[in-house]
Amino acid sequence: MSLLHLENISRVFGKLVALQNVALEMNEGELYSVIGPNGAGKTTLFNLISGFFPASTGEIWFDGVQVNKFTPERRVALGLVRTFQITEIFPELSVFENIRIGVEAQMGCSAHPWPGRKLLQQINRRVEELLKITSLEAQADRTVSELAHGDQRVVEVTMALSRKPKLLLLDEPTAGMGRAETHHMVNIIRVLHEQQKISILFIEHDMDIVFGLAHRITVLNYGQVLATGTPKEIAANPRVQAAYLGEAA
Ligand SMILES: Nc1ncnc2c1ncn2[C@@H]1O[C@H](COP(=O)(O)OP(=O)(O)OP(=O)(O)O)[C@@H](O)[C@H]1O
Ligand SMILES: [Mg+2]
Repeated sequence: MSLLHLENISRVFGKLVALQNVALEMNEGELYSVIGPNGAGKTTLFNLISGFFPASTGEIWFDGVQVNKFTPERRVALGLVRTFQITEIFPELSVFENIRIGVEAQMGCSAHPWPGRKLLQQINRRVEELLKITSLEAQADRTVSELAHGDQRVVEVTMALSRKPKLLLLDEPTAGMGRAETHHMVNIIRVLHEQQKISILFIEHDMDIVFGLAHRITVLNYGQVLATGTPKEIAANPRVQAAYLGEAA
């Protein structure tokens, strides 16, 4: 079944056409990558899908529901979750405290400002479970601002995970990382996909990662879809070679 369906999506910023007539169809269970040169419109596409900005034209369907007019939070509640940037996380709080905020939001705890002991135990258990999934247990008590860049990005992903995504959007999850951190993040992505059964749509510039992880790829160029296909089809596509892969590889 189609999990994400984008039809005729456009977005203009003043005179700049950032996206034009973009269509994308993603199935449940897919690991799907959006690639393309700098400024191609990839992040803008994520902003539209997650509800950060409205689309200028087009339809966004998630899990059978048209979500164009939904706020970001309402989309999160449906399971459409993007990574929370480090700026949306509390850097002075510990890793554990940050993830607890995500879990409480997911459990609707703002309605219970003083959760009873049972609920507190349930919340703490869930936080521990999440930290285990993303291998952050050893960092639980550390202040987020003191973590290495790679671990901060893992906190962002764990925060997103706390919102129980059906579809997780990751914008350049390995950007600025060294080899070991990149390898660790790729492993986490695999765990989320294979063990947690989360569908994942990710933007990535590192072609080894894209071709190693993605089932299907959409290439954006100047705001338009240049090609969509399997890694094999994309690698063999002469238009993609000319516009992007030639320089990226
Ligand atoms: N809020 C905004 N206001 C005005 N222009 C914007 C805004 N957001 C993006 N743009 C413009 O839209 C175009 C696409 O930008 P976008 O950030 O989506 O590219 P990208 O493919 O994510 O690039 P990169 O690989 O460098 O991250 C760029 O020309 C950018 O300057
Ligand atoms: Mg971007």
